[in-house]
Amino acid sequence: EADLESKLPLKEKKILITAGPTYEAIDPVRFIGNHSSGKMGFDIAKSAANLGASVILVSGPTHCVVNHVLIQLVKVTSAQEMYDACHQYYADVDVAIAAAAVADYRPKNVANQKIKKAADNFVIELEKTKDILSSLGENKKQQFLIGFALETENEIENAKAKIQKKNLDLIVLNSLQDEGAGFQKTTNKVTFIDKDFKIEPMELKSKEAVADDILNKVIAHFYE
Ligand code: CTP
Ligand code: CA
Repeated sequence: EADLESKLPLKEKKILITAGPTYEAIDPVRFIGNHSSGKMGFDIAKSAANLGASVILVSGPTHCVVNHVLIQLVKVTSAQEMYDACHQYYADVDVAIAAAAVADYRPKNVANQKIKKAADNFVIELEKTKDILSSLGENKKQQFLIGFALETENEIENAKAKIQKKNLDLIVLNSLQDEGAGFQKTTNKVTFIDKDFKIEPMELKSKEAVADDILNKVIAHFYE
């Protein structure tokens, strides 16, 4: 029994994870998206499930695949759909991890028909999407809430501001400075910052290993 528990330290825990990009429709055949591969979020889901957690993986469009009895994949397309799916499951979970690269803006009007080419210049008006992670922070009760931050300047200060603004317990700061880290890479270099602003820079490593590091933070939260 004790042995099983040490191998499956997250047994009975429910974890909500967001992954991938979102696609925001312009018309029936076009969208605004980004280069997120989804790999980081899927690797976190796999690590969590391998530790015994029940995972709800809410993902935007990706080529990632997952096949684990403890992972329920909820496929979404837009930021609004991701928001709705997250709130459907959030009240019930012990941990939420926002690894998705959610679009910050979407076209204000979506054309019903394919937009025809006409004028030399074409402007698409955008409006803000809902910030999913902020809304999870606002509604936080028992949940241990982890966010990501992607910064290209004032990394640490901006990440700290996100911890406070979004009511997070931990943030995973992506260091884009590093050659081996980023959207389409299989490796990542991150810095953990907790809600007390304790800063922990990690080595460049595979996304699988970064996922394990994140789950170790989750385990520490429950056992320390
Ligand atoms: N996030 C989210 N919903 C959004 C935008 C972001 O849930 N509409 C989450 C991301 O999944 C990530 C965190 O918020 O965990 C930070 O995302 P990031 O793009 O770094 O920050 P933003 O708050 O969007 O601010 P900015 O892009 O201006 O830096
Ligand atoms: Ca953003």
